[in-house]
Amino acid sequence: MQTKNSYILAIESSCDDTACAILKNDHVLSNIVAGQEIHLQYGGVVPELASRAHQSHIVPVVDQALKKAGITKEDLSAIAFTRGPGLMGSLLVGTSFAKSLAMALEIPLIDVHHMQGHILAHFIDNGQEKPIFPFLAVTISGGHTQIVKVTDYHKMEVIGTTQDDAIGEAFDKSGKMLGLGYPAGPQIDQLAKEGDPKKFPFPIPKAPDLNYSFSGFKTAVLYFIQREENNNPDFIKENLLDICASIQYTLIKILFQKVEKAVQQTGIKTVAIGGGVSANSGIRAKLRSYEKKGWNTFIPPFEYTTDNAAMIGISGYYKFLDGYTAGMETTASPRIQL
Ligand code: KG4
Ligand code: ZN
Repeated sequence: MQTKNSYILAIESSCDDTACAILKNDHVLSNIVAGQEIHLQYGGVVPELASRAHQSHIVPVVDQALKKAGITKEDLSAIAFTRGPGLMGSLLVGTSFAKSLAMALEIPLIDVHHMQGHILAHFIDNGQEKPIFPFLAVTISGGHTQIVKVTDYHKMEVIGTTQDDAIGEAFDKSGKMLGLGYPAGPQIDQLAKEGDPKKFPFPIPKAPDLNYSFSGFKTAVLYFIQREENNNPDFIKENLLDICASIQYTLIKILFQKVEKAVQQTGIKTVAIGGGVSANSGIRAKLRSYEKKGWNTFIPPFEYTTDNAAMIGISGYYKFLDGYTAGMETTASPRIQL
């Protein structure tokens, strides 16, 4: 039987990337991301500037995505968008745009949770093997650190979460203390490759059950740098590679301690990582190393790790197939839970 193809246009604008993707079923036809360099000079995302930049980027980004996909608006089956979590001003731009477009084209509107997007990115058709339900998703980004039990495309239960900072913040804030630009995560990743990961031991913060805490780690890095700089003002310059390697080594240790515990507790040995921090080469290598212990591990293709709209499109596609659409009264929701 020949089933009808679905064309989903997806919009992601939760933080500082304006993104639009077009999917034909589970296959990505185009995936456009416009970053915002304006934040670099401030060492972090400035919400007011982010929403203004989304306003000016969104129309050209959507236009480019349609052109690259080789389709017209009239071919679309539904519009998917990130409802939350994220920055209110940023989310409002994508939400309003998506609603207007769905209304004008008289096609369904589909709201997607940003972290569900990071998880379902594994189901984008890339010719690779896909996780089999149930699996554990470890979502690691600038705003989240969670272990999620995923039972099907729509059923996800958070079984562990951070009590304070996210792991991406731990990377970024430690990097800032070392004088690295924002976001520091990718730079620490690069510098760590040439350093000694065991040179400077940092403490592992305690958190109950499957939960995480990273604020203590951040303070430990701050005190460590202050102490060492008192003795040697050039300490950072002379030891940057080893400091980065030691920071990354400790963050990986903190992360996987609880992932191991979650695998033990649930008996689920299929583990998939997602979110911006899953681009980290040390985290990717560590996850792969558990294959020896019989885990089935999944790492998203690099282009679908940091924020993108293809992940919102694939989530929208599965929601569309199962009839989960949103009403026109749907609002952006900055703190929505998974
Ligand atoms: O998912 P994402 O693009 O945005 C949020 O939803 O937060 O994640 C951004 C985070 C930032 O903290 C950034 O430093 C981190 O992902 N990141 C990395 C790497 N690439 C991005 N952290 C460590 N190593 C990387 N290679
Ligand atoms: Zn994200």
